[in-house]
Amino acid sequence: MSRFVYVNGQYVPYADAGIHAEDRGFQFGDAVYEVCEVKGGRLVDETRHMERLARSLRELKIAEPMSEGAWTRVLRETIRRNRLRDGSLYLQVSRGVHRRDFFFPPAGTPPTVVCIARNASPAKAEATAAKGIGIKSVPDNRWARCDIKTVMLLPASMAKEAARTDGANDAWFVDAKGFVTEGASANAWIVDKEGRLITRQIDNVILRGVTRTTLIDHLRREGIELVERPFTIAEAKAAREAFITSATSIVMPVVTIDGVTVGNGAPGLLSLKLRAAFHSAAEIAAV
Ligand code: PDD
Repeated sequence: MSRFVYVNGQYVPYADAGIHAEDRGFQFGDAVYEVCEVKGGRLVDETRHMERLARSLRELKIAEPMSEGAWTRVLRETIRRNRLRDGSLYLQVSRGVHRRDFFFPPAGTPPTVVCIARNASPAKAEATAAKGIGIKSVPDNRWARCDIKTVMLLPASMAKEAARTDGANDAWFVDAKGFVTEGASANAWIVDKEGRLITRQIDNVILRGVTRTTLIDHLRREGIELVERPFTIAEAKAAREAFITSATSIVMPVVTIDGVTVGNGAPGLLSLKLRAAFHSAAEIAAV
């Protein structure tokens, strides 16, 4: 639980961390966000997360709310005030507060900035990874700019809820041609019967996952071949291994898809190897 939340320049107690009723994020989903892993009190892949945040803001023409140096201080101060060891930081920037209007507010309207700390149990995550997770596939009903990390997460929320109703842990979006685009809040990967590692290439229908990018760096260094192409949900069900990547799940093995067992039903060897190696490949911030 976050004890102090950064809201527009102040660290306020969690119970008092409110924003205005006419915030653009609340009324229009007009906001972008990042989730950055914190491990041992240190940010993981801060540079890439902050670069992606800057890109999301540019794409939506939302003003950058503060300098790089100010961001660095806010992130570290949020970790410090919450005594966060393991978990994540959630940062959100909206276009700000204005009388409800579809047109953008006047230039100079200050963006709303929020930073929330959240702890997570590494032991619990390892126990989940040792078992693997179940996936439900759902039609991808999101917009055409999923490369921008906006807070318009209702399709993802509904997909995850549908997965839970079916006894699965998470959801994968599938396009009209049967190709997996990505997970509801993660990128999707498979290892086919021949042992080839496959993930979708980056385009505007998926988020350019930071975990994905860092893992690709690691694969290159290790000389592990990667094929970047779309794969179908049928290929995934017939795969030897499957996994997801995100800042909160790192590399999480997938053992069932729509109730079909993937491989031998246990987390894949490559998936577990990549999970174990991930943090050695990531940028770990100085305290
Ligand atoms: N989600 N694809 C989607 C749709 C995502 O929401 C996420 C991250 C990813 C993986 O990106 P990264 O490796 O940078 O975390 C891919 C975060 C964790 C969330 O919404 O909570």
